[in-house]
Amino acid sequence: MTDLYAVFGNPIAHSKSPAIHAAFARATGQDLRYEARLAPVDAFAAAVTEFVAAGGRGANVTVPFKEEAFRLCGSLSERAARAGAVNTLIFSDGTIAGDNTDGAGLVRDISHNFGYALAGKRILLLGAGGAARGVIAPLLAGEPAALTIANRSADKAVALAGAFADLAAVEGGGFADLVGKCFDLVVNATSASLSGATLDLPTGVFAPGSLAYDMMYGKGETPFLALARQQGAGRCADGLGMLVEQAAEAFFVWRGLRPDTADVLAELRAGLAG
Ligand code: ATR
Repeated sequence: MTDLYAVFGNPIAHSKSPAIHAAFARATGQDLRYEARLAPVDAFAAAVTEFVAAGGRGANVTVPFKEEAFRLCGSLSERAARAGAVNTLIFSDGTIAGDNTDGAGLVRDISHNFGYALAGKRILLLGAGGAARGVIAPLLAGEPAALTIANRSADKAVALAGAFADLAAVEGGGFADLVGKCFDLVVNATSASLSGATLDLPTGVFAPGSLAYDMMYGKGETPFLALARQQGAGRCADGLGMLVEQAAEAFFVWRGLRPDTADVLAELRAGLAG
C-alpha cells in the first residue's frame, strides 16, 4: 500500500515540498504519496488528526504552524526540543513524534553543498525569531570558534543567546554592537527579505572570503545577499539548498534512506531562473 505524507501550512499552494519528495521517492524507489494540505489557521490540530485517521504516516509543517506542532507532539527529538519548533511529524501507533530538520538542512547545505566547514569559524546569526532559534544548536554542533546573534531588537538576541549558554558561549546583541567585528559566516534568519527590507548592518561584518547565507530565497538576489555582495562577502548563498536538504533529512527520518539532492536542487534552481 502506498504510504501517505503531507505538508501542512497556510498558505501552502506554492510549496515546493510535494515536488521535492516525489523526486526523492522516484529516485529511491519508495512507494509513497506526498500532498500539500492547507490547514485553517485556527484548526491545525484538527487537520493533523484527520490526516492521521486517513492513514498518514508523517508530515512536514511550515509557516505558521511549527510552534503549534511542537506543542502537539507526545515526544520530541532533542533538536526539536532545542528549536522550540517542529517541522517533521512522525505518526505511529496513535502517537505523534516531532522532529526538526531545518538546522540540519542549513548545516548540510553549507558544509556539504558549499564545502564550507564550520569548525573554527566566526559565525554571525541575524535574527532572533523562530527561524534563528531552529538553527543555533546544529550550527554549534559544527564547533565554530564563536557564535554571535544580532537582532533589530537587541534584548531578544540576548535572551536567545542565554537559552543556549549550556552548549557554548553565545553572544547576543543589537546590530550596532557589531561595529568593528567581522565574521567568516553570516546567516540571515530574519524575515526582512520578505518585505524587501535591507538590514541596517554596520560595514565590515563580512570578512574577506566570508560566506553570506540567506535562509530566504526567491527569483533573483535577495536584499540581504545584495548587501553582502556590496560589503565584500566572498560567496553568497540563498536558502534553496536548505529547503531541499531539510526535506532530505525528513525523508531520512521517515524512510531510513538518504536521497541524493543535487539533481532536485538543480531542477528547482533552473525553475527559479526561468
Ligand atoms: P521567524 O519565525 O521567521 O523567525 P519571527 O519569529 O516573526 O519569524 O521573527 C522575525 C525576525 O526577523 C525577528 O528577528 C525580527 O526582528 P525583531 O525581533 O526586531 O522584530 C526580524 N525582522 C523582521 N523584519 C525586519 C527588518 N525589517 N529589519 C530587521 N529585522 C527584521
